[in-house]
Amino acid sequence: MTAPVALVESALAEFFHSRRDQVARVGGGYRSAVADLEAFVLRGGKRIRPSFGWMAWLGAGGDHRSPQAASVLRACASLELIQACALIHDDIIDASLTRRGFPTVHVGFTERHRAAGWSGSSERFGESAAILLGDLALCWADDMLRESGIGHEAMGRVSPVWSAMRTEVLGGQLLDIEAEAGLDESVEAAMQVNRYKTAAYTVERPLQLGAVLAGAPESLVDAYRSFGTDIGLAFQLRDDLLGVFGDPAVTGKPSGDDIREGKRTVLMAVALQLADRDRPDAGSLLRSSLGVVDLTEDTIEIIRTVLIELGAVADVERRISELTNRALDTLKTSAVEPHAAAQLRAMSIAATQRTY
Ligand code: IPE
Ligand code: IPE
Ligand code: MG
Ligand code: MG
Repeated sequence: MTAPVALVESALAEFFHSRRDQVARVGGGYRSAVADLEAFVLRGGKRIRPSFGWMAWLGAGGDHRSPQAASVLRACASLELIQACALIHDDIIDASLTRRGFPTVHVGFTERHRAAGWSGSSERFGESAAILLGDLALCWADDMLRESGIGHEAMGRVSPVWSAMRTEVLGGQLLDIEAEAGLDESVEAAMQVNRYKTAAYTVERPLQLGAVLAGAPESLVDAYRSFGTDIGLAFQLRDDLLGVFGDPAVTGKPSGDDIREGKRTVLMAVALQLADRDRPDAGSLLRSSLGVVDLTEDTIEIIRTVLIELGAVADVERRISELTNRALDTLKTSAVEPHAAAQLRAMSIAATQRTY
């Protein structure tokens, strides 16, 4: 059984349905706002986190025909509500206009406020609504996990993993904005951000969650975590490249915004290092462009060329390959059940070589 995208989505739809009456009782525009959240959660998304969680469970001896399977699937699907919160809030933080091919949640609410001619600032209304819906998604992730039916003992094993995952992703996001504000240019700082803002909640912890649900031994959990950290880092390095070179029609999110926001990605850190060594003119161009919100498409195109010429793109590609190869070696020598290991291998390659 491969990645259970359709099953994850129906588990999420069922969860939203379970909250319908409670939401309706609150009245006002809550029902329609929650409908927007539901549309956001169900419309697109690669479902990488639940897929890794589920496959780790199978790889640690879980049986998809067993009575526990449906509960495990619900527990894994709840990761998509953590993801919804992370993305909705991230798009406010990063002032991003599109996500999954549609206006971001805060932009959607801003437009609605403006179109209706409501009083006050449309931008502020949009951001406020999106903060609340992100919070709701985070709370509902907890509810969905608790109500998944995994049982008391499994819940005891999952809880510390779940807690660590939430703490790490928020910490990673904080380090990300600090790096932007404090202008820490080092590659190490950028890798540390990636480890916590992405690798932990995207691959490492979802794998651990699946493994502990299956009651996996510590050695297998360790192997999953090491494999997951490497794939998670490579996944974010790919995201850094897509953030500059990706096609918005395919990624569903803007291209070039990382530069306009002054995001301290590994790609940029490597480029600055190489520029300082080989081409000070390129270093000045990059430094004076980072964080300039109204940078033209022409300047972004020049920066793309500079990043290639400096060898920064090739360097990041090399890092992606090294991390992926190391992860696959870890997987090969682990005790993961062979069929699931083959699936995890394919999922890892897809996640790190993706175009969206
Ligand atoms: C985007 O995650 C945020 C990052 C951690 C890079 P995904 O690329 O998994 O986004 P969706 O869920 O598929 O939209
Ligand atoms: C991703 O941050 C991390 C989280 C959403 C927690 P980014 O800002 O790098 O991701 P994208 O490129 O907007 O998806
Ligand atoms: Mg961000
Ligand atoms: Mg972002």
